[in-house]
Amino acid sequence: MITKKQMHDLAKKHGTPLFIVDHDEIRKNYAKFKKHLPRVQAYYAVKCEPMPEIVRTLYKCGASFDVASMPEFNIAYENIKGMPAKKRQDWIWDKIIYANPIKPHETLVELDKYRPLVTYDNLEEIRKIRTYAPHAGLCLRIRVPNTGAVVELSSKFGAHPGEAVDLLLEAARQGLGVEGLSFHVGSQTTNFENFVQAINISADIFSEAKSRGYDRMNVLDIGGGFPAQYDASVKPFEELAEKINAELDRLFPDPDMEILAEPGRFMIASAGTSVVRINGKAVRDGKTCYYVDDGAYHTYSGIIFDHQHCPMYSFRKGKKTENCSVFGPTCDALDVISHAMPLPTDLELGELLYAPMMGAYSHASSTWFNGFPPAKVVHVNK
Ligand SMILES: Cc1ncc(COP(=O)(O)O)c(C=O)c1O
Repeated sequence: MITKKQMHDLAKKHGTPLFIVDHDEIRKNYAKFKKHLPRVQAYYAVKCEPMPEIVRTLYKCGASFDVASMPEFNIAYENIKGMPAKKRQDWIWDKIIYANPIKPHETLVELDKYRPLVTYDNLEEIRKIRTYAPHAGLCLRIRVPNTGAVVELSSKFGAHPGEAVDLLLEAARQGLGVEGLSFHVGSQTTNFENFVQAINISADIFSEAKSRGYDRMNVLDIGGGFPAQYDASVKPFEELAEKINAELDRLFPDPDMEILAEPGRFMIASAGTSVVRINGKAVRDGKTCYYVDDGAYHTYSGIIFDHQHCPMYSFRKGKKTENCSVFGPTCDALDVISHAMPLPTDLELGELLYAPMMGAYSHASSTWFNGFPPAKVVHVNK
C-alpha cells in the first residue's frame, strides 16, 4: 500500500485530480484470491477497471479474463496477439469468458473465429448464437439470490432455475456445446449465504440435467461479487472462501470440474487512490463546503453507478473534524461527493484530500462532462 507521503508527492509532481494505481496491491489481491480459493480460476472482470496496464499485470500473474464487450475482449487479446495461432486459440478457450448474456449479432460474428466461452440466458440468445457464433462454447447464466448485495444483478440477467435445464437441452438440440453454468450473487456481496445458495442451486441443475440425459457440463462459473474491504463491517475474505470451498468440495468433488470466478472489485478496489485539490470553499447554512477538482461525473462516479461512499481524508495530522459537504467541479447539482464528510473545517484553497479504496467502478465510468477530463492516471510498482 502506498504511503500518504508518496500520494502527496505524486500529486505535487503530476498535479490533480490524480488517480494512482498501485500494481503491488493488484498482485497481492490476486495472490490472496488464489491462496484461499485454490480450485477456482480467477477471470478478472475487465469492466471494473479496463486500463491495459492493469490487465497486463493480471495477465502476468496468470489471471484469466471476463470481458463483456468487443473492446474489452481486445484489451485482453492485446497481451497474446504475438503468440503462435494454436497457442493463442487455446489460451482464448481456456482464459476468456464473454460474460455478457446479451450480445449484438455483430459481436457474435466477430467472436466466432476465436471460439470463446460465452454466456446466455434465454431462447432468443440461443438462436442468435447458433446463427452468428456456432463455434462458441456456452455457459448458461442462472438467476440466484442477490440478497443484501450492494449492486443487485438478478433482475436484469439469469434464467430461472426452473427453466434452466430446458434452456440447456434446447441449446444442445440446436447443435451448440453447453459447457456449464454461471451465476452472479450481486456485487459487493457481504451476505455469504448468497454464494452457498447459488452453488446448491447449481448442483441441483447439474443433477437434473444429468437425469434428463445431458451430462456434458464440466464448468461452474461462480461469478463476481467478492467484497472489497471498504470498512470493518465487511467480514474477512477468508471466511467467505472457507464457505465456498466447503460447498464446492461437497457438491462438486470431481477434480475435473472446472471452477471459474469473475472477481472485479476484489482485485482492484484497494489498488486505486484518488487525490484531489480544494479549489473553492464556502460556509452554507453553517456547514463548511469544499469544492474539489474531481467529482460524481468523474472518479467519484461510483457514488451514482455503484452506491459507493468514498471516505476522504486530509493530509494534515490530528485535526478535529466536522461534517462538511464536498462538491465536484462541475456546475451540476448532482455533482456531490458527500454532504457529511468528516473533515477539518480550516482547510485552505490549494490543499489536497485523498480517498483510498477507489480502484473499482470509479475511473472506469468517468465522463468528460462540463469540459472536465477524467483524472490523470499514474501507475506505481508496475
Ligand atoms: C457478469 C459479471 N461478472 C463479474 C462482474 C464483477 O463483479 P464484482 O466486481 O462484484 O466482482 C460483474 C459486475 O457487474 C458482472 O456483471
